[in-house]
Order: sequence, then C-alpha cells, then structure tokens
Amino acid sequence: MRTQLLKADESSLKLAAELLKDGQVVGIPTETVYGLGADALNETAVRAIFAAKERPADNPLIVHVADFAELEPLCHVNDMARKLNEAFWPGPLTMILPKKDIVPTVVTAGLESVAIRMPAHPVAQRIIRLSGCPIAAPSANRSGRPSPTQAQHVFEDMDGRIPLIIDGGDSDVGVESTVVSLTGDTAVVLRPGGITPEMIAAVLGTCEVADSVMRPLREGEEAPSPGMKHKHYAPKAPMTLYAGQTAQVARRICAEYDAAKEDGEALILAAHDHLPLYGDRHVFDLGPTAASAAHALFAALRYADTLGVHRVFSEAYPEEGVGLALMNRMARAAGFDIVHV
Ligand code: TXA
Ligand code: MG
Repeated sequence: MRTQLLKADESSLKLAAELLKDGQVVGIPTETVYGLGADALNETAVRAIFAAKERPADNPLIVHVADFAELEPLCHVNDMARKLNEAFWPGPLTMILPKKDIVPTVVTAGLESVAIRMPAHPVAQRIIRLSGCPIAAPSANRSGRPSPTQAQHVFEDMDGRIPLIIDGGDSDVGVESTVVSLTGDTAVVLRPGGITPEMIAAVLGTCEVADSVMRPLREGEEAPSPGMKHKHYAPKAPMTLYAGQTAQVARRICAEYDAAKEDGEALILAAHDHLPLYGDRHVFDLGPTAASAAHALFAALRYADTLGVHRVFSEAYPEEGVGLALMNRMARAAGFDIVHV
C-alpha cells in the first residue's frame, strides 16, 4: 500500500473523511500525539488499526468525538463527566465511562467501560465532523515505539501500512492525554497527562491517582489501564534517569557518559538551563520547563534511535504538575532505572 503524507487543507481533510467513512485507517494530528484513526463503530476498520500498529488485542482504544452530545449513544454520562467536559474539553483529557452496546467489544478489548476524548486540535475536530463518525484512535506509533509527535514520526512507523497521514504540525502537549476513570464514586487518574490531578480535583473536589502510575507493575498484578502493562515509550538503547541536586546530577551524568563513550555513541537529555554543565558532550535540549520537556521527550527518544546510540542518560524531573506525566513516560522509557544521586 502506498502511504500519502499530505499537509492539512480542505481537500486533504475531505479525503481523510472519505477514507474513514470507507472503513480505512488514517494518521491524524491531535494536540497530545498523532493518532491512528478509524470509524469506532466499524469492527473491521478497528481491527485494521490493531493490525497496522501490531497492538495486542487486550489493549483498548480511545474513541474521539467533536461534540459532547455524541457521548449519549456511546456511554452512560454522569455528573463528573459533565463537569470535566465544561472545564477541560476539548483538550488532553480522556474519560472512562460505562459503555453502551453500540460500541464494539474490539474497541474496548472486552471491558464494560469505554474511553472517550474530545481533542482540541482543529484538524482532528474537522476530520471527526466531516467523517460523521466517532473515531477510535490509539497513538500512531508501532507498538513499543515512542508515540509520534510529528507527521514524519507517523510516516516512519506506518509507511506502507495505511493509505493516508495528515500533517497538522508538531503536537503541542507531546505526551498522551490524561486518562481518568469515572466509573466509580471518585475520579481516578490511570495515566497522567496534560490535565493534572490537581486540576481535576479543583473541579470535582477530589481526585485520586492510581498508585501504579509511578512504579512498575508487580508480577501478576492487573493494570488499572491495560496500556500500562505493556513496555512503552522506550528507545532502543538502555536509558537511565538521574534524580537529585542539579550540579551533582550533571557531574554524575558526565562521568557515566564519558565511560560509555569508550564503547560508542551516547546521548544526554537535559534541561536547557543546564546545558553549560555538560560542556561539549552530545546533549538533546529538553527546553526550559517540564512542559517543554514533555513536548520534546518522544522526539528525543526517536532521535536517540536514529543516531543509533548505545546508551541514553537523562535528568529526572519533579513529579508535580505536568512533571508527573513526563516522569511517568521517562520512567517507563528507562525501565524504571532511576538513580538517586
Ligand atoms: O492523547 C491520547 O490519548 C492519544 C491521542 C491519539 O488521542 N491516544 C492514545 O491512545 O494515547 P493509546 O491507545 O495509545 O492509549 C490509550 C490508553 C491505554 O493505556 C489504554 O489501556 C487506556 O487508554 N484505555 C482505553 N480504554 C480503557 C478503558 N476502558 N479502561 C481503562 N483504560 C483504558
Ligand atoms: Mg500508545
């Protein structure tokens, strides 16, 4: 199959909508990461997503809508969902709600709940509206690769597997949406993202965070969000995180990097303000803030793969605000290899 990569404009968006109506899979920009979209109510189309991604069938998909009214046929809406919609939609928040029968089990991997998100990216919204269907879309990476934050990343992973990728520019947030479960009495964050637990608690009065967010799953433990049990986000080379006081962290990373260099190329990921501490070593600039680091992280991991480095060393970040989402991805990329300096 030939894969077209087209800039977002009225004619490419119409083409995307036609392909989606026809049961095909299209690469779509969103403000979090790029998605691999198909008609959520067409079982065959949804199976084609799993095939293109080589995704295990036990990992459910997020259904994307453009209007709150579209939830009604898909799931049982509650007050928490209405309040979070008012506060954060469209935006980088996914709500887990009890599903209705119309949603095929292949979308939810057999669960009684369904994940729903209203993306803020104007191109994603326009495609959903033009297609007239709810769009099931996981991140558009091949399973096990870092999520794509640029159309080019999607092309690297999906060339020859899907007919069309729409280029809507770099994803703004850079990490996947916050996944919040609303099926119980209180909201529980299963996957941290751009909308923080603090922001949700400010609207609902309280918000819990699943305790597996910042640690590996134990042997035999069930993942609250099935996606968290699969190895995620990792570069090909082993990666280690260093936490502690800035100067000491930099000294330690420099020493590890210099030792690793004897066996081949290595890469350091560091905050912009710390670059002088690394001299002329090969550093990927994560920008000035935790938000800029979240925006840059997946591109940095793909850059490490492209260079073919054999080791990656990264500064750790405080697990607060968007730093929690950033560290959730960084810790997984590093296989939880975190050194406290
Ligand atoms: O930002 C995002 O969420 C992107 C863009 C494309 O919207 N999508 C995305 O999809 O990250 P994906 O498939 O890579 O991650 C979906 C996560 C997985 O961890 C999955 O297990 C979880 O949501 N999930 C989906 N349905 C669920 C459900 N019913 N209960 C619990 N977790 C669910
Ligand atoms: Mg994913």
